[in-house]
Amino acid sequence: MLKKGYLSPSILTCDFTCLEKSIKILEKAGCAWLHLDVMDGHFVPNISFGVPIVQSIRKKSLLFLDTHLMISEPEKYIKAFAKAGSNLLTVHIEVCPDIQKIVKAIHSLGVKAGISLNPGTPVELVEPAIGVADLILVMSVNPGFGGQSFMPVGLEKIKWLRKKIDHAGAKTLLQIDGGINDNNLHTVRKAGADSVVVGSALFSDPDPGNKASEYLKIMEL
Ligand code: DX5
Ligand code: ZN
Repeated sequence: MLKKGYLSPSILTCDFTCLEKSIKILEKAGCAWLHLDVMDGHFVPNISFGVPIVQSIRKKSLLFLDTHLMISEPEKYIKAFAKAGSNLLTVHIEVCPDIQKIVKAIHSLGVKAGISLNPGTPVELVEPAIGVADLILVMSVNPGFGGQSFMPVGLEKIKWLRKKIDHAGAKTLLQIDGGINDNNLHTVRKAGADSVVVGSALFSDPDPGNKASEYLKIMEL
């Protein structure tokens, strides 16, 4: 069953000197979520940004801050990211195998909890997150960089998880992240993604606001 859709624009590839302007464009287009890619240069081979940026964004925006922690030992940092204003904290199962424990810890901070898995991680490993986590994030690229090509294994995992979530009657949302653009947004949405992360396809467009409106419409088809 398809639930309401949430487009979650990733700011990873936007120009950080005009971050506020970019966020306002997304708000004006009608976006409700913002995807924040936190990278530590350890769990993934790249470094992006951390707590201070989340804090600054929170001061300027009321958007639902969907924070994707691509970091080792996320349990050490969840408190700081929750305090900074994140509404959802998603951690990776590859570094956080005890789903119950991390979800409980995140919930105790008063924010929603997500569990993510890399393209090479078997989908069965996140099955216990159904009905426990608020969101499961399926990676359709190897995390670390924006602008990579979509890996079809992500679509297969979305289909598999959609069936399991519906069968369980669970409220857990299903999200996909990586390589989403004009060619596959409709497909992943129809396959059962409740939330879709889009980064470079929005920010490489000459008119990101217009592109966001277009994608928001596709999310509702
Ligand atoms: C990848 C990040 C993604 C990515 C999305 O490590 O988690 O959120 O930046 O960007 P695109 O849409 O360009 O793949
Ligand atoms: Zn992400």
